[in-house]
Amino acid sequence: MRLPALSLKHIPSGWNQPDGMCPVKVNRRGRRARSRPDGTACGSIWPGIALAVLALAAAAPAAAADAAHGQELYDSRCGGCHSLDANRVGPAHRGVYGRKAGSAPNFNYSTAVKNATVVWEEKTLDAWLTNPQALIPGQRMNFRVALAEDRADIIAYLRQQSGK
Ligand code: HEC
Repeated sequence: MRLPALSLKHIPSGWNQPDGMCPVKVNRRGRRARSRPDGTACGSIWPGIALAVLALAAAAPAAAADAAHGQELYDSRCGGCHSLDANRVGPAHRGVYGRKAGSAPNFNYSTAVKNATVVWEEKTLDAWLTNPQALIPGQRMNFRVALAEDRADIIAYLRQQSGK
């Protein structure tokens, strides 16, 4: 069993030769030492995998991580009423970022949203998700997102899915 090559370069130097279930250190003469530097027993692949996963997670750009978390939040919180490509209880969302409120084709909006002059971008989406009724009185989305961080992640996801 071998760790994938991609992970190996993220493991600290000298710990670049996985061997079976045990990470193996290459010493100065090019020989493989079978124990870890701290002397703990080999036999589990998990410490090596955990290291590699941590290194990969730390290397990922923050913006991508936000949108990825936004997708999780979107699926769990918005997915009951919305989807990207189909109108459901709420309108389809692909392309919503940068679009005027109330303009998803064939969705039956409230008069309030249809007539609103709001364009969906960072600030307006944040206000909408904080309190839709305060932004557009008479709307009929009965849902809020309490945490600013969660709103930002969801907005990053909607933006990404709108190609903006
Ligand atoms: C309980 C159902 C429901 C949930 C949950 C819900 N929405 Fe909505 N959403 C609606 C409805 C209904 C509308 C249309 C409102 C209207 O016409 O007044 C809407 C409209 C919107 C709009 C305006 C779109 C446009 O084309 O103008 C956005 C943006 C939006 N929702 C985002 C979200 C996000 C993001 C979430 C998850 C955090 C979410 N909604 C969760 C029902 C829901």
